[in-house]
Amino acid sequence: MDNTELNQKVGLNQEDNRDQFQSKFGFIMAAAGSAVGLGNIWKFPYMTGENGGGAFVLIYLISAALIGISLLIVEFAIGRNSGASAVEAYGKYNKKYKFVGFFSMIAVTVLFSYYNIIGGWTIYYFIQSITGNLIGLNAEEISAGFNSFTTNVDIVAVFGIIFLAITAFVVLKGISGGIEKACTVLMPALFIMLIVLAVRSVTLPGAAEGIKWYLKPDFSQVTSSTFVAALGQVFFSLSLGSGGMVTYASYLNKKENIPFAASVTAISGTAVGILAGLAILPAVFAFGLSPGEGPGLAFVTLPNVFGQMPFGSFFSAVFFLLFFFAALTSSISMLEVSVTYILEKTKMSRKSAVLVMCLIILLLATPPLMSYGSWGDIKIFGKNFFDLYDYFVSNISFPLVGLAGALIISHVWNEKDLKDEITNTGEIKFGLYKFWYSFVKYIIPILLVILFLTATGILNI
Ligand code: PHE
Repeated sequence: MDNTELNQKVGLNQEDNRDQFQSKFGFIMAAAGSAVGLGNIWKFPYMTGENGGGAFVLIYLISAALIGISLLIVEFAIGRNSGASAVEAYGKYNKKYKFVGFFSMIAVTVLFSYYNIIGGWTIYYFIQSITGNLIGLNAEEISAGFNSFTTNVDIVAVFGIIFLAITAFVVLKGISGGIEKACTVLMPALFIMLIVLAVRSVTLPGAAEGIKWYLKPDFSQVTSSTFVAALGQVFFSLSLGSGGMVTYASYLNKKENIPFAASVTAISGTAVGILAGLAILPAVFAFGLSPGEGPGLAFVTLPNVFGQMPFGSFFSAVFFLLFFFAALTSSISMLEVSVTYILEKTKMSRKSAVLVMCLIILLLATPPLMSYGSWGDIKIFGKNFFDLYDYFVSNISFPLVGLAGALIISHVWNEKDLKDEITNTGEIKFGLYKFWYSFVKYIIPILLVILFLTATGILNI
């Protein structure tokens, strides 16, 4: 289907010509760009830290390989098949299911609201690096600096708004113009930087204990909440259930190989997470910090590592810049979900759609932002607003949408259409098709229902 047909099909007006990815590499890079973000570099290490190390890593890896890749295939197929926003995409075969796409849009918007806050942290740390304020401090000073920054909600708000504005700017430029170009260069650079950091971290004196803790599973630490956390992390880190991958795939042309793209996306997301863990966790032990530190882990640990490197300021600046870009390529895909939908449904220009969404996001961001300040003591279900948002998004909403996607594709679609979509009408070979199909039809739904019941506390194993 060419662009014009696509546009007619989704009823877009002339002005918002529905763009397509220009190359296979571009799509994979954008999908990987969406996957690779704060989730891998910032969240994965601290989740590993809070959930006991190696065993969590192993459960995460197995889930990413099986559930992650399978569901990416599901979401790419749903997106490309419809060539429309996530809302339309889930409802393509039966309008009843549009609500699934709608729900994913709400979840990803909630995610975006607190993601901005951490995105702002990366900008702040980049600036601290180039001004040389981060190097030459001892571990206590670094931690104290982090605490005084993050609890200063006015400053954090300013940086969060800067992050939001930059995301909005890139989304305004449209798909192939902004996103594709940026991702193609930055993702490989980030990868190389993480390798350099991981090498420094594992060779620090005292790192051995951390490496062991990180890579050697200790199953005595595993509880049902380890599974909930690991699966939530798979969804978060691969942007599953968020409408993001569905939306990107709606811009994908019919010739690309979906299973291949899904595998590359999952592997890059996971590999970056594992590398980030290797860059951070051994260093945590080497510097006598605590792995259970929580969301500050990367920001508190890495400056210590830079302090032990020649040209530390330089590496620190490069790292935080790439960290920021990784966050940006993810936040772009979050904003694109609702913007694509608004363009499809209204006569609004891209610019107004972006603006409206930014305002909604600013409002939504207030409670998690304030939870670092004077609202810190407000707890709902035992969690502050920041953690509550995150739990609602990663552990409940995304898995629910993933469950719905798996069910829709295997029970609502007709199987021939499905097979045609995945194999490009027989043009590509997907040897594992049958296995994938049964897995998606039976096993994933069962696993995700158990996950949902456990995450909501209904089931207590
Ligand atoms: N996968 C992104 C990350 O790891 C987060 C994300 C989730 C992005 C959902 C888009 C949609 O940071």
